[in-house]
This record gives sequence, C-alpha cells and structure tokens, in this order.
Amino acid sequence: MSFSLAPWRPILARALHRNRSKPHSRYLQLATVNVKGQPSNRTVVFRGFLEKTNQLQIVTDTRSSKIKDIQHQPWCEICWYFSQTREQFRLSGNITLVNQETEDKRLQEARHTLWGKLSTEAKQQFNWPSPGQPIEPIEENFCKQLSFIESPVSNFCLLLLEPEQVDHLELRGKPHHRQIYYWNEQKNWITQSVNP
Ligand SMILES: Cc1cc2nc3c(=O)[nH]c(=O)nc-3n(C[C@H](O)[C@H](O)[C@H](O)COP(=O)(O)O)c2cc1C
Repeated sequence: MSFSLAPWRPILARALHRNRSKPHSRYLQLATVNVKGQPSNRTVVFRGFLEKTNQLQIVTDTRSSKIKDIQHQPWCEICWYFSQTREQFRLSGNITLVNQETEDKRLQEARHTLWGKLSTEAKQQFNWPSPGQPIEPIEENFCKQLSFIESPVSNFCLLLLEPEQVDHLELRGKPHHRQIYYWNEQKNWITQSVNP
C-alpha cells in the first residue's frame, strides 16, 4: 500500500512538539452525530497515528454512546486547541471502528499494541459497569479487578479517523492565519489559504 504524508501532518507534528510541556495538548474534542441527527461532543486522548497512514488513533469502550453514533454516521469532526502556540486544528472525516471482531490483521495488531500501552489503571476502567447507564448502589462493581490484562478486553475499541479536511487556524500574528487542506476527487490534498 503506497502512503504519502498529508501536507498538514508536519504542521500538526510541529504543534504537538511545541506544546509538549502541556499534558492537555494530547486531549482533543471529538464530535459525532447521534441517531437523532444531533451533535454529541466529548474529550478524548490522541493516541498517535496508525503506522504508514494519516489516520488518528483514539481508544474507547464499545459500550459508550459514541459507538452507536459512529455506526449510524461515521463522519466526525475533531477540534483541537494548542494553548501554548494558540492554534486550532479541525479535522473531519470518517471513523473506522476496530473491535474484537475486526478481521484485518494489521488493524487488530494496532488494537493490541494500544491496549499494551495503557496503564493498568486505564485498563481496569474497561471492567467498570456500562458507561452512561444509571449507577447501581453496589460499589464493588467498580472494584472488580481484571485478572488477565495482557490481551484487550472485548469492549476495548480502537477508532481510526481518516481526515479528508483539515482547517488550521493560527491566532499568533495579525491578521490571523488560516489554511484549509482538503481532498479533491482523486483524494489528492489541496491546500488553500482563506480569510481567518
Ligand atoms: C481529559 C479526558 C480524557 C478522556 N479521554 C477519553 C478517551 O481517550 N476515550 C474515551 O472513550 N473517553 C475519554 N474521556 C471520557 C469522554 O470524554 C466521555 O465522557 C466518554 O467517552 C463517554 O462519551 P460518550 O457517552 O459520548 O460515548 C476523557 C475525558 C476527559 C475529561
């Protein structure tokens, strides 16, 4: 499979590097559209790019509501603000779900690798009761320990966002600087400067 680095990748890599002293610079907002057609937004952690692709990796629980949203409408948008350099990236595209049933070996390997990188504490959260459901007054539900944590649990899911449009806004300087990167019909990247 041939791969070429998208033109916005070095720009995003530079932002990540320059904001590396701020742990929150790896948190981004992921917006989905729910089955009622309403927006739904939440903070997630950026887990790097899938090797030899421009796809962003995010991990989540298959029992969370965002999964239903994505199954219904895979088009999503990320909004990501870097406070040190005062720049915003909005990346939109389709999300692919990689769960226990995914047969593609490369994607399944990526899911296993990301599970391996999670702290024990983060892994244990996948053993908590279903996210978003009314809480049961049985506290032990949150204390059950996963005894086997080498392999991902069945509700551990990898999300892969393939950006088709990236909107980069820099607030430094006057006027502000804004650039849009988008796929043309041949899926080649076009870069366009626009008014901020
Ligand atoms: C700083 C921070 C980081 C988070 N990281 C993740 C994450 O990587 N994956 C995730 O599924 N939820 C993460 N969450 C929780 C989500 O924001 C959200 O509450 C949860 O995923 C349920 O969302 P949903 O009901 O829209 O699916 C994070 C929350 C915060 C505040």
